[in-house]
Amino acid sequence: ERSERTRLIEAHKVAAEFFVDQLATPAAVKGREFLAGRGFDAAAIEKFTVGYAPESWEALVRHLRGRGFTDREILAGGLASEGRRGAMDRFRNRLMWPIADLSGDVIGFGGRRLTDDPETPKYLNSPETPIYKKSSVLYGLEMARREIVKQERAVVVEGYTDVMACHLAGVPTAVATCGTAFGEEHIKILRRLLADRNQFLGVEVVFTFDGDSAGQKAAMRAYLDEDKFVTQTFVAVEPNGMDPCDLRLAKGDAAVRELVATRTRLFEFVIRAELAKHNLDESEGRVHALRSIAPIVAKIRDSALRNDYTRRLAGWLGLEERDVQPAVRRLV
Ligand code: GTP
Ligand code: MN
Ligand code: MN
Ligand code: MN
Ligand code: MN
Repeated sequence: ERSERTRLIEAHKVAAEFFVDQLATPAAVKGREFLAGRGFDAAAIEKFTVGYAPESWEALVRHLRGRGFTDREILAGGLASEGRRGAMDRFRNRLMWPIADLSGDVIGFGGRRLTDDPETPKYLNSPETPIYKKSSVLYGLEMARREIVKQERAVVVEGYTDVMACHLAGVPTAVATCGTAFGEEHIKILRRLLADRNQFLGVEVVFTFDGDSAGQKAAMRAYLDEDKFVTQTFVAVEPNGMDPCDLRLAKGDAAVRELVATRTRLFEFVIRAELAKHNLDESEGRVHALRSIAPIVAKIRDSALRNDYTRRLAGWLGLEERDVQPAVRRLV
Protein backbone atom coordinates (compact mmCIF):
# COMPACT_ATOMS: atom_id res chain seq x y z
CA GLU A 1 0.00 0.00 0.00
CA ARG A 2 1.69 3.14 -1.16
CA SER A 3 1.31 6.42 0.68
CA GLU A 4 -1.11 9.12 -0.38
CA ARG A 5 1.84 11.43 -0.92
CA THR A 6 3.37 9.09 -3.47
CA ARG A 7 0.04 8.79 -5.31
CA LEU A 8 -0.47 12.56 -5.43
CA ILE A 9 3.06 13.13 -6.72
CA GLU A 10 2.47 10.52 -9.42
CA ALA A 11 -0.76 12.25 -10.42
CA HIS A 12 1.09 15.58 -10.69
CA LYS A 13 3.77 14.02 -12.85
CA VAL A 14 1.14 12.66 -15.22
CA ALA A 15 -0.69 16.01 -15.21
CA ALA A 16 2.50 17.95 -15.98
CA GLU A 17 3.21 15.69 -18.96
CA PHE A 18 -0.39 16.07 -20.12
CA PHE A 19 -0.15 19.88 -20.00
CA VAL A 20 3.13 19.84 -21.94
CA ASP A 21 1.56 17.68 -24.66
CA GLN A 22 -1.47 19.98 -24.80
CA LEU A 23 0.71 23.04 -25.46
CA ALA A 24 1.54 21.56 -28.87
CA THR A 25 -2.12 21.24 -29.92
CA PRO A 26 -3.95 23.76 -32.16
CA ALA A 27 -6.17 24.77 -29.22
CA ALA A 28 -3.12 26.14 -27.38
CA VAL A 29 -2.23 28.73 -30.02
CA LYS A 30 -3.01 31.63 -27.63
CA GLY A 31 -0.73 30.11 -25.04
CA ARG A 32 2.14 29.73 -27.48
CA GLU A 33 1.61 33.32 -28.64
CA PHE A 34 1.70 34.56 -25.06
CA LEU A 35 5.00 32.79 -24.40
CA ALA A 36 6.56 34.03 -27.63
CA GLY A 37 5.38 37.55 -26.82
CA ARG A 38 7.17 37.30 -23.48
CA GLY A 39 10.42 36.40 -25.19
CA PHE A 40 10.41 32.69 -24.39
CA ASP A 41 11.62 30.35 -27.13
CA ALA A 42 11.13 26.58 -27.39
CA ALA A 43 14.23 25.86 -25.30
CA ALA A 44 13.01 28.12 -22.48
CA ILE A 45 9.55 26.57 -22.56
CA GLU A 46 11.09 23.12 -22.37
CA LYS A 47 13.50 24.04 -19.58
CA PHE A 48 10.61 25.24 -17.42
CA THR A 49 8.22 22.55 -18.72
CA VAL A 50 5.49 25.09 -19.34
CA GLY A 51 2.23 23.51 -20.48
CA TYR A 52 -1.35 24.26 -21.34
CA ALA A 53 -4.60 23.23 -19.64
CA PRO A 54 -7.30 22.93 -22.32
CA GLU A 55 -10.62 24.71 -22.11
CA SER A 56 -12.52 21.71 -20.85
CA TRP A 57 -14.24 20.54 -17.69
CA GLU A 58 -12.85 17.06 -17.80
CA ALA A 59 -9.84 16.73 -20.10
CA LEU A 60 -7.35 16.24 -17.28
CA VAL A 61 -9.77 14.34 -15.06
CA ARG A 62 -10.46 11.86 -17.86
CA HIS A 63 -6.76 11.50 -18.60
CA LEU A 64 -5.95 10.81 -14.95
CA ARG A 65 -8.81 8.33 -14.58
CA GLY A 66 -7.45 6.53 -17.62
CA ARG A 67 -4.12 6.25 -15.81
CA GLY A 68 -5.76 4.63 -12.82
CA PHE A 69 -6.25 7.60 -10.50
CA THR A 70 -9.45 7.80 -8.49
CA ASP A 71 -11.59 10.94 -8.30
CA ARG A 72 -10.77 11.06 -4.61
CA GLU A 73 -7.04 11.27 -5.43
CA ILE A 74 -7.58 13.82 -8.21
CA LEU A 75 -9.61 16.01 -5.86
CA ALA A 76 -7.18 15.60 -2.96
CA GLY A 77 -4.36 16.78 -5.21
CA GLY A 78 -6.26 19.94 -6.08
CA LEU A 79 -6.17 19.07 -9.78
CA ALA A 80 -9.96 19.12 -9.93
CA SER A 81 -12.76 20.64 -7.93
CA GLU A 82 -15.97 18.97 -6.83
CA GLY A 83 -18.77 19.62 -9.29
CA ARG A 84 -22.37 18.47 -9.48
CA ARG A 85 -21.36 15.56 -11.69
CA GLY A 86 -18.14 14.66 -9.93
CA ALA A 87 -14.60 15.94 -10.40
CA MET A 88 -14.16 18.91 -12.77
CA ASP A 89 -10.84 20.23 -14.09
CA ARG A 90 -9.60 23.04 -11.88
CA PHE A 91 -7.37 24.63 -14.52
CA ARG A 92 -9.04 25.49 -17.83
CA ASN A 93 -7.62 27.41 -20.77
CA ARG A 94 -4.52 28.42 -18.85
CA LEU A 95 -0.78 28.33 -19.33
CA MET A 96 0.58 25.99 -16.70
CA TRP A 97 3.79 26.21 -14.70
CA PRO A 98 4.62 23.09 -12.69
CA ILE A 99 5.85 23.85 -9.18
CA ALA A 100 8.47 21.38 -7.95
CA ASP A 101 9.83 20.58 -4.51
CA LEU A 102 13.54 20.25 -3.78
CA SER A 103 13.66 16.71 -5.15
CA GLY A 104 12.21 17.93 -8.42
CA ASP A 105 8.82 16.29 -7.89
CA VAL A 106 5.89 18.37 -9.14
CA ILE A 107 3.66 19.19 -6.18
CA GLY A 108 1.42 21.90 -7.62
CA PHE A 109 0.76 24.26 -10.51
CA GLY A 110 0.41 27.92 -11.27
CA GLY A 111 -1.86 28.74 -14.19
CA ARG A 112 -2.28 32.00 -16.07
CA ARG A 113 -5.52 32.83 -17.83
CA LEU A 114 -5.28 33.59 -21.54
CA THR A 115 -8.39 35.77 -21.79
CA ASP A 116 -9.20 39.17 -20.35
CA ASP A 117 -12.21 37.72 -18.56
CA PRO A 118 -12.39 39.69 -15.31
CA GLU A 119 -14.53 36.93 -13.80
CA THR A 120 -11.54 34.63 -13.42
CA PRO A 121 -8.32 35.39 -11.55
CA LYS A 122 -5.32 36.20 -13.74
CA TYR A 123 -3.35 33.53 -11.92
CA LEU A 124 -4.80 30.42 -10.36
CA ASN A 125 -2.57 28.32 -8.13
CA SER A 126 -3.01 24.89 -6.62
CA PRO A 127 -4.96 24.93 -3.36
CA GLU A 128 -3.39 23.72 -0.14
CA THR A 129 -3.07 19.94 -0.36
CA PRO A 130 -1.20 17.24 1.56
CA ILE A 131 1.78 17.89 -0.74
CA TYR A 132 1.43 21.64 -1.46
CA LYS A 133 1.72 24.37 1.17
CA LYS A 134 2.02 27.77 -0.42
CA SER A 135 3.74 29.32 2.62
CA SER A 136 6.71 27.00 2.14
CA VAL A 137 6.93 26.83 -1.63
CA LEU A 138 9.35 28.79 -3.78
CA TYR A 139 8.89 28.44 -7.51
CA GLY A 140 12.18 27.69 -9.23
CA LEU A 141 14.05 26.69 -6.08
CA GLU A 142 15.09 23.31 -7.37
CA MET A 143 16.70 24.99 -10.37
CA ALA A 144 18.21 27.85 -8.38
CA ARG A 145 19.43 26.03 -5.28
CA ARG A 146 23.01 25.40 -6.37
CA GLU A 147 23.57 29.02 -7.36
CA ILE A 148 21.83 30.30 -4.22
CA VAL A 149 24.27 28.30 -2.11
CA LYS A 150 27.22 29.37 -4.23
CA GLN A 151 26.33 33.06 -4.29
CA GLU A 152 24.74 33.10 -0.82
CA ARG A 153 22.01 35.13 -2.41
CA ALA A 154 18.43 34.53 -3.50
CA VAL A 155 16.59 36.89 -5.80
CA VAL A 156 12.89 36.84 -4.96
CA VAL A 157 10.70 37.90 -7.87
CA GLU A 158 6.93 38.05 -8.12
CA GLY A 159 5.91 35.70 -10.86
CA TYR A 160 6.63 32.60 -12.89
CA THR A 161 7.49 34.64 -15.98
CA ASP A 162 9.91 36.71 -13.90
CA VAL A 163 11.73 33.60 -12.69
CA MET A 164 12.07 32.43 -16.28
CA ALA A 165 13.26 35.83 -17.47
CA CYS A 166 15.87 36.05 -14.69
CA HIS A 167 17.29 32.60 -15.35
CA LEU A 168 17.50 33.31 -19.07
CA ALA A 169 19.08 36.70 -18.42
CA GLY A 170 21.84 35.29 -16.24
CA VAL A 171 20.31 35.64 -12.78
CA PRO A 172 20.10 31.95 -11.88
CA THR A 173 19.33 32.65 -8.21
CA ALA A 174 15.75 33.74 -8.95
CA VAL A 175 12.77 32.18 -7.21
CA ALA A 176 9.18 33.33 -6.69
CA THR A 177 6.52 32.90 -4.08
CA CYS A 178 3.31 31.43 -5.45
CA GLY A 179 0.34 33.69 -4.83
CA THR A 180 1.42 34.62 -1.32
CA ALA A 181 3.73 37.06 0.44
CA PHE A 182 7.31 36.10 1.21
CA GLY A 183 7.34 34.94 4.82
CA GLU A 184 9.24 33.22 7.57
CA GLU A 185 8.80 29.74 6.12
CA HIS A 186 10.42 30.87 2.90
CA ILE A 187 13.41 32.24 4.77
CA LYS A 188 13.74 29.01 6.72
CA ILE A 189 13.92 27.08 3.49
CA LEU A 190 16.62 29.34 2.10
CA ARG A 191 18.66 29.11 5.27
CA ARG A 192 18.34 25.33 5.31
CA LEU A 193 20.02 25.23 1.91
CA LEU A 194 23.12 26.76 3.47
CA ALA A 195 22.98 24.67 6.61
CA ASP A 196 24.61 21.77 4.76
CA ARG A 197 27.73 23.86 4.52
CA ASN A 198 27.77 24.19 8.29
CA GLN A 199 28.10 27.91 8.27
CA PHE A 200 26.17 30.67 9.91
CA LEU A 201 26.18 33.19 7.12
CA GLY A 202 22.71 34.33 6.21
CA VAL A 203 21.35 34.37 2.72
CA GLU A 204 21.24 37.76 1.12
CA VAL A 205 17.69 38.18 -0.13
CA VAL A 206 16.97 40.58 -2.98
CA PHE A 207 13.35 41.40 -3.71
CA THR A 208 12.34 42.77 -7.07
CA PHE A 209 8.93 44.25 -7.58
CA ASP A 210 7.08 45.70 -10.51
CA GLY A 211 6.40 48.89 -8.64
CA ASP A 212 2.68 48.45 -8.05
CA SER A 213 1.28 48.79 -4.55
CA ALA A 214 0.94 45.06 -3.86
CA GLY A 215 4.64 44.60 -4.41
CA GLN A 216 5.48 47.54 -2.18
CA LYS A 217 3.29 46.16 0.56
CA ALA A 218 5.00 42.81 0.31
CA ALA A 219 8.33 44.55 0.74
CA MET A 220 7.09 46.32 3.84
CA ARG A 221 5.75 43.11 5.32
CA ALA A 222 9.04 41.39 4.73
CA TYR A 223 10.78 44.32 6.38
CA LEU A 224 8.55 44.27 9.44
CA ASP A 225 9.52 40.66 10.06
CA GLU A 226 13.13 41.48 9.46
CA ASP A 227 14.36 40.89 12.99
CA LYS A 228 13.04 37.34 12.83
CA PHE A 229 14.78 36.64 9.56
CA VAL A 230 18.38 37.40 10.56
CA THR A 231 19.18 38.00 6.98
CA GLN A 232 20.41 40.70 4.71
CA THR A 233 17.53 42.07 2.77
CA PHE A 234 17.71 44.22 -0.32
CA VAL A 235 15.23 45.65 -2.80
CA ALA A 236 15.69 46.15 -6.51
CA VAL A 237 12.88 48.19 -8.02
CA GLU A 238 13.02 49.15 -11.65
CA PRO A 239 12.45 52.93 -11.93
CA ASN A 240 9.71 52.57 -14.54
CA GLY A 241 7.89 49.95 -12.52
CA MET A 242 8.75 47.07 -14.83
CA ASP A 243 9.08 43.54 -13.54
CA PRO A 244 12.07 41.43 -14.67
CA CYS A 245 10.10 39.84 -17.51
CA ASP A 246 9.03 43.22 -18.91
CA LEU A 247 12.50 44.64 -18.38
CA ARG A 248 14.15 41.81 -20.29
CA LEU A 249 11.74 42.35 -23.17
CA ALA A 250 12.27 46.10 -23.24
CA LYS A 251 15.99 46.34 -22.53
CA GLY A 252 17.51 42.89 -22.73
CA ASP A 253 19.36 40.45 -20.49
CA ALA A 254 22.03 42.86 -19.27
CA ALA A 255 19.38 45.22 -17.90
CA VAL A 256 17.99 42.44 -15.71
CA ARG A 257 21.44 41.63 -14.33
CA GLU A 258 22.05 45.33 -13.78
CA LEU A 259 18.76 45.71 -11.86
CA VAL A 260 19.79 43.02 -9.40
CA ALA A 261 23.30 44.44 -9.11
CA THR A 262 22.05 47.92 -8.20
CA ARG A 263 19.99 46.73 -5.24
CA THR A 264 19.24 48.93 -2.24
CA ARG A 265 19.16 47.83 1.38
CA LEU A 266 15.57 47.33 2.42
CA PHE A 267 16.07 49.79 5.30
CA GLU A 268 17.07 52.42 2.85
CA PHE A 269 14.17 51.62 0.52
CA VAL A 270 11.68 51.96 3.36
CA ILE A 271 13.38 55.10 4.68
CA ARG A 272 13.33 56.75 1.28
CA ALA A 273 9.64 55.91 0.86
CA GLU A 274 8.99 57.52 4.25
CA LEU A 275 11.08 60.59 3.40
CA ALA A 276 9.06 61.07 0.23
CA LYS A 277 5.89 61.35 2.30
CA HIS A 278 7.07 64.45 4.14
CA ASN A 279 7.82 68.01 3.17
CA LEU A 280 11.44 68.29 4.21
CA ASP A 281 11.55 72.00 3.38
CA GLU A 282 9.61 72.69 6.57
CA SER A 283 10.94 71.97 10.03
CA GLU A 284 7.65 70.37 11.01
CA GLY A 285 7.98 67.96 8.09
CA ARG A 286 11.54 67.12 9.10
CA VAL A 287 10.51 66.42 12.68
CA HIS A 288 7.60 64.25 11.54
CA ALA A 289 9.88 62.34 9.19
CA LEU A 290 12.41 61.80 11.97
CA ARG A 291 9.67 60.49 14.22
CA SER A 292 8.54 57.92 11.64
CA ILE A 293 12.01 56.90 10.49
CA ALA A 294 13.83 56.63 13.83
CA PRO A 295 12.07 53.33 14.72
CA ILE A 296 13.14 51.90 11.36
CA VAL A 297 16.79 52.79 11.89
CA ALA A 298 16.61 51.54 15.47
CA LYS A 299 15.68 48.10 14.13
CA ILE A 300 19.00 47.68 12.35
CA ARG A 301 20.80 45.06 14.39
CA ASP A 302 24.35 45.68 13.33
CA SER A 303 25.48 48.65 15.42
CA ALA A 304 28.03 49.91 12.89
CA LEU A 305 25.40 49.85 10.16
CA ARG A 306 22.89 51.48 12.51
CA ASN A 307 25.27 54.31 13.31
CA ASP A 308 26.01 54.74 9.65
CA TYR A 309 22.30 55.06 8.86
CA THR A 310 21.78 57.44 11.75
CA ARG A 311 24.43 59.67 10.18
CA ARG A 312 22.89 59.35 6.74
CA LEU A 313 19.43 60.06 8.11
CA ALA A 314 20.68 63.31 9.56
CA GLY A 315 22.02 64.20 6.14
CA TRP A 316 18.78 63.33 4.37
CA LEU A 317 16.78 65.38 6.85
CA GLY A 318 19.18 68.28 6.91
CA LEU A 319 19.45 67.95 10.68
CA GLU A 320 22.45 67.78 12.98
CA GLU A 321 23.60 64.27 13.80
CA ARG A 322 23.43 65.07 17.51
CA ASP A 323 19.72 65.85 17.12
CA VAL A 324 19.00 62.60 15.31
CA GLN A 325 21.11 60.25 17.44
CA PRO A 326 19.03 60.40 20.66
CA ALA A 327 15.80 59.78 18.72
CA VAL A 328 17.24 56.54 17.39
CA ARG A 329 19.17 55.51 20.50
CA ARG A 330 16.24 55.55 22.90
CA LEU A 331 14.42 53.06 20.62
CA VAL A 332 17.26 50.54 20.25
P1 GTP B 1 1.91 38.85 -16.30
O1 GTP B 1 0.96 39.61 -17.16
O2 GTP B 1 1.66 37.38 -16.32
O3 GTP B 1 3.33 39.23 -16.48
O4 GTP B 1 1.54 39.24 -14.90
P2 GTP B 1 2.07 40.44 -14.02
O5 GTP B 1 3.52 40.56 -14.04
O6 GTP B 1 1.26 41.63 -14.29
O7 GTP B 1 1.64 39.74 -12.71
P3 GTP B 1 1.57 40.34 -11.29
O8 GTP B 1 2.76 41.16 -11.04
O9 GTP B 1 0.22 40.91 -11.12
O10 GTP B 1 1.63 38.97 -10.49
C1 GTP B 1 2.81 38.31 -10.20
C2 GTP B 1 2.48 37.04 -9.43
O11 GTP B 1 1.48 37.30 -8.45
C3 GTP B 1 1.90 35.92 -10.28
O12 GTP B 1 2.90 35.12 -10.85
C4 GTP B 1 1.06 35.15 -9.28
O13 GTP B 1 1.84 34.24 -8.54
C5 GTP B 1 0.54 36.24 -8.37
N1 GTP B 1 -0.79 36.68 -8.83
C6 GTP B 1 -1.08 37.68 -9.70
N2 GTP B 1 -2.40 37.77 -9.93
C7 GTP B 1 -2.96 36.81 -9.17
C8 GTP B 1 -4.30 36.37 -8.97
O14 GTP B 1 -5.26 36.88 -9.57
N3 GTP B 1 -4.48 35.35 -8.08
C9 GTP B 1 -3.46 34.74 -7.43
N4 GTP B 1 -3.71 33.74 -6.58
N5 GTP B 1 -2.17 35.12 -7.60
C10 GTP B 1 -1.93 36.12 -8.46
MN1 MN C 1 2.33 43.13 -9.91
MN1 MN D 1 4.54 41.58 -12.51
MN1 MN E 1 4.79 40.41 -15.59
MN1 MN F 1 4.11 62.31 9.37
